[in-house]
Amino acid sequence: MLSFGDVASEPSSTLLVMGDHYLIRTFGCQMNEHDSERIAGLLSADGMTPTDDTGLARVIVFNTCAIRENADNRLYGNLRHLKPVKERNPGIRIVVAGCLAQKDRGRIQERAPWVDVVIGTHALPHLLDLLRQSETDGPQMDVREQTEVFPSALPAARDDPFRAWVSIAPGCDNGCTFCIVPLVRGPQRSRPIGDIVAEVQGLVDRGVVEVTLLGQNVNTYGRDVTVPGSSRRPLFARLLHEVNAVDGIRRIRFTSPHPHDFTPDVIDAMAACEAVCEHIHFPLQSGSDRVLASMRRSYRRQRYLEWLDEIRAAIPQIGVSTDIIVGFPGETEEDFLQTLDVVECARFDSAYTFQYSPRPGTRASTMEGQIPREIVQERFERLVALQERISLSRSRAQVGRELEVLIEGPGKKGAAAQGRTRTNRIVHLAGALSPGSFVTANITSAAPHHLSGEVVRARDAVAV
Ligand code: 5AD
Ligand code: SF4
Repeated sequence: MLSFGDVASEPSSTLLVMGDHYLIRTFGCQMNEHDSERIAGLLSADGMTPTDDTGLARVIVFNTCAIRENADNRLYGNLRHLKPVKERNPGIRIVVAGCLAQKDRGRIQERAPWVDVVIGTHALPHLLDLLRQSETDGPQMDVREQTEVFPSALPAARDDPFRAWVSIAPGCDNGCTFCIVPLVRGPQRSRPIGDIVAEVQGLVDRGVVEVTLLGQNVNTYGRDVTVPGSSRRPLFARLLHEVNAVDGIRRIRFTSPHPHDFTPDVIDAMAACEAVCEHIHFPLQSGSDRVLASMRRSYRRQRYLEWLDEIRAAIPQIGVSTDIIVGFPGETEEDFLQTLDVVECARFDSAYTFQYSPRPGTRASTMEGQIPREIVQERFERLVALQERISLSRSRAQVGRELEVLIEGPGKKGAAAQGRTRTNRIVHLAGALSPGSFVTANITSAAPHHLSGEVVRARDAVAV
């Protein structure tokens, strides 16, 4: 929760001026991080300056997430904290952007009339107009249903000069019954391949060495733009090859693919493209065929495990992460044991584990058999304990290896520096190492969520 107790109580003029400060709080997924960079880019291009100081901020933006219920609670909690601040200082502009804005629409300003701008996922290019209009005409809202301009086309202000998100296909055409994303982000819209490649080239020219291609379902990229009359096949493998051919790109990541659409041409492209990192986020959701069917996930446990085998056969060192939901409506103890069993077999390097959260408007939210909280909690703890054990053993298998690490910045837990392997493992290192540089590290110890190591070569490492 933000603390706004120290915000200046002097009323200020109501018009935004050059040099005013803005503060953005981002919740949720990488697509929101990407959009926040655009929000920052728009405000910076308008002459404003970023700050982390809530006391200084003239524009406060919440870029929100709607995927689970606690996101709602956090937003409305933050907004309640801002009410007295806004009363003391009416010149502050409060903006609610992102998926919750798209979902809750008018309800946000009903519940928090001190919010100046509600801006949905398709309206980002209009942010500055809405802010200005709110200064003269009062609260504004734009939650249009269709994107006219991809946010990628807007100016971006990035915190990290070496790594960048690149949106390739926002939106999703799947109908997983638990998921609110298709309702708040709309259907998939693929950007033209040439625009994406040009963006990556532009980033590399400015010093970026790693890009993460973003979409709700990246591996169906292109299905919505394939030449009319053709078989509307995804172009993701081709995109990987084209981005890999950008001169100077060192690492390419992508998230998230849907297991169902992870076709052999994508595996081949991953294996063939030098810059494509040996990591895949492969969302399982459940290990029970009955629950997968009820979730409307089109694969079954057996097929999922076969796909993993195929991927590991083609790219032996690959790091695998996943998403798992516990307590989906109707999930029995037997179903849950099936999930534990798939987790044992799959040996994920890491897993994002979630307690099922009913989202208004989704099919699952009205299904019978909603599971009591205590049962969900108890299953969740068993799943986390199992995955911690597996993550630790997967990490320990790295000890003694020499790995390429891209330095990201100062380390946590007392380490001087922190970076990431191509397989997406965090590595803590001693010594002052500059962000954006590549080193080769010898891995000396392991924990479930990070490795520790010593630098053995400080430039241009090649091992994975
Ligand atoms: N409840 C819990 N987890 C969810 N996810 C999506 N919707 C829900 C929900 N209603 C999880 C899925 C998805 C990840 C991004 O969030 O595991 O892959
Ligand atoms: Fe949601 Fe399923 Fe689309 Fe992922 S694939 S965004 S879980 S509907």
